[in-house]
Amino acid sequence: MKELLHEIREAGDLQAVVDLLHDRVEHYSWVGLYLVEGDDLVLGPWKGPQATEHVRIPVGQGVCGAAAASGETEVVDDVNADPRYLACFPSTRSEIVVPIARDGHVVGEIDIDSDRPAAFGDVDRELLERVAESIALLV
Ligand code: SME
Repeated sequence: MKELLHEIREAGDLQAVVDLLHDRVEHYSWVGLYLVEGDDLVLGPWKGPQATEHVRIPVGQGVCGAAAASGETEVVDDVNADPRYLACFPSTRSEIVVPIARDGHVVGEIDIDSDRPAAFGDVDRELLERVAESIALLV
């Protein structure tokens, strides 16, 4: 994880960061960045087996919108048990959303879906919160 974080910090653009996360962590099935545009989250770079239909999500809607509204990381162990969840892929079982903040404002977020139930623990949260801090200036 330390090595991965180092490589992410060296990466020159957001697509490279997404690619590294997706390719290097087995339980990260789909990785995307949403960027805040007005009152919406707009999908930016992503990598995964399929495109999502949720390319624009109002802040406040879905798990993504909840994290953007609160500025706090959301971890959902069982997406089918969370009424906020906006479904993208039938295979998704759990999700983590980590806000990216600049000058105290949420400017985007990292959204990762896993095909594994309860895939995201403290190690993932710590890694991704550090990634969010290091890419804030690229967003
Ligand atoms: N599941 C998210 C929507 C984005 S997709 O996972 C790519 C949500 O509930 O906000």
